[in-house]
Amino acid sequence: MNLRLYSDLAHLWPIISPPEEYMVEAQEWLDVIRGRLDLTAATGRGLPTLLELGCGGGHLLSHLTEHFITEAVDISPQMLEISQRLNPQTLHHQGDMRDVRLGRTFDVVAIHDAINYMTTEGDLGAAIATAEAHLNPGGVLLLAPDCIEETFTGPRVVEWTREAEDRSVTFIEYMGKPRAGSTTVESVFIFVIDDDGDIRVETDRHTGGLFPTNTWLGLLDAAGLAAEYIQTNAYEGGFGGNLFVGRKG
Ligand SMILES: C[S@@+](CC[C@H](N)C(=O)[O-])C[C@H]1O[C@@H](n2cnc3c(N)ncnc32)[C@H](O)[C@@H]1O
Repeated sequence: MNLRLYSDLAHLWPIISPPEEYMVEAQEWLDVIRGRLDLTAATGRGLPTLLELGCGGGHLLSHLTEHFITEAVDISPQMLEISQRLNPQTLHHQGDMRDVRLGRTFDVVAIHDAINYMTTEGDLGAAIATAEAHLNPGGVLLLAPDCIEETFTGPRVVEWTREAEDRSVTFIEYMGKPRAGSTTVESVFIFVIDDDGDIRVETDRHTGGLFPTNTWLGLLDAAGLAAEYIQTNAYEGGFGGNLFVGRKG
């Protein structure tokens, strides 16, 4: 997998998707967690614990670190470096969400939009098995895919511009039409980087998973987690707004 956004273009992530844009979603997550986790049991041991798999730049995580003792995993060393800078109190590990095993368990395990990179039912099941293996009894798993099959209609184009100190970056994403019978959607990313009039264009291609609600709920159930679907607020361009929750008995 060579995804430029998470390797040589990783420095663009904090510009096109800055941490402050995750505040509302983090608050929604906190409400969902508080409604399901026995915080008195967790806080008996101090702050509850949270593991994020596929933390990326740690932007969403940065709104959770005051509420939890946190650890984070990502496959990309460049993204881990960005998250480490933003979240110095979090223990970071390089690993693949499909097979990483830290040998510890947590009150909450979360996989935010990184779950999009699970493109087969086998991979999605493996990531859920990893999450389950890291959950305490009574613990809560959150999965937040950008798209689910029932509500996704491609092709879809989204674009926005963000200003940084010395540059402006315009991000354009084209998401294709899902092929019949396929569990994936192809995306093309275009980055227009304007350094004070010196304009450069970079491109990248990603493949994301697209599964119906029943697949998500069925895989959570098969992993022994009590499953539910919660609709939350979507981001610009209609991304997100989906939360699958699993509770370990
Ligand atoms: C969109 S970014 C996540 C951004 C994150 N939600 C944030 O708040 O900054 C997706 C991340 O998933 C990671 N990723 C993709 N496949 C992975 C895998 N198999 N295991 C772990 N991380 C993975 C990528 O390296 C990337 O950092």
